[in-house]
Amino acid sequence: MASTAPIGVFDSGLGGVSVARRIMRDLPHERVLYFGDSANAPYGTKTPAQVRDLSFAIVERFVQQGAKAVVIACNTATSAAVNDLRDAYDIPIIGMEPALKVACDRGDRPHDGHDGGDGEPPADHIPQRVIVAATPLTLREHKFAALMARFEADNTILPQPCPELVEIVEQGRLADRELVMRTLHGYFDRYDLTGVDAVVLGCTHFVFYRDYFRELLPSSTAIVDGHAGTVRHLAVVLESLGALASDDAIGGVEIANSDPSARIATLARDLLAG
Ligand code: DGL
Repeated sequence: MASTAPIGVFDSGLGGVSVARRIMRDLPHERVLYFGDSANAPYGTKTPAQVRDLSFAIVERFVQQGAKAVVIACNTATSAAVNDLRDAYDIPIIGMEPALKVACDRGDRPHDGHDGGDGEPPADHIPQRVIVAATPLTLREHKFAALMARFEADNTILPQPCPELVEIVEQGRLADRELVMRTLHGYFDRYDLTGVDAVVLGCTHFVFYRDYFRELLPSSTAIVDGHAGTVRHLAVVLESLGALASDDAIGGVEIANSDPSARIATLARDLLAG
């Protein structure tokens, strides 16, 4: 596998641009082909079969373009399609899931420098109260049920679907503070936020709301996403295959979208620069 080959990164729309941005920051020599499926967004309210078909079409496109790896920069498409995609293709397929482990691990306070071993929580794990904000499909799928099962015995997990947060990004209304805050209050006023240890941004579109979440949440509540971990994992996989771009390679992101409008192209460019 040539280290000069590009990495395909896709999402239902513009959310995955936040992942492409992180790849550029952490792996600046890599060449990224970004594909946003805005013509078919949102994925989070579709059936798993629909999302699987759309994901296969995009990965096939990347393979035709000679991609050395694919990042599914979409928790929803990962839930619906990652296993089938891995079965069907030889190149590494990196998926994303809500960073629940990162949020729950914040409760670990090893007094003797050791965890409990064998994945057991340390003796003095402080139970965490964690809201997982994601799409309805992500929260309904088996993958999330399995993830939750790993952590719910020692923590309180509160899954919160937030489909409108996807639409606001796709409509280019992220700067409409009044709309955004009203939408966030609609989803989160039902919780006593002073008792929430962390909110997991379990959808790549939601990362663009970080400042708004900061305004909504008490300063003691952490805001967690999986972007850094995903890019670290990508680097480890590429390195293990001898496929990391060399330090003299010139990286960058090429953006394509199933919605060919200038509006979407401008939005994607602005979010990438943002
Ligand atoms: N950005 C996507 C995710 O991470 C999905 C958004 C959608 O299309 O519903 O789940």
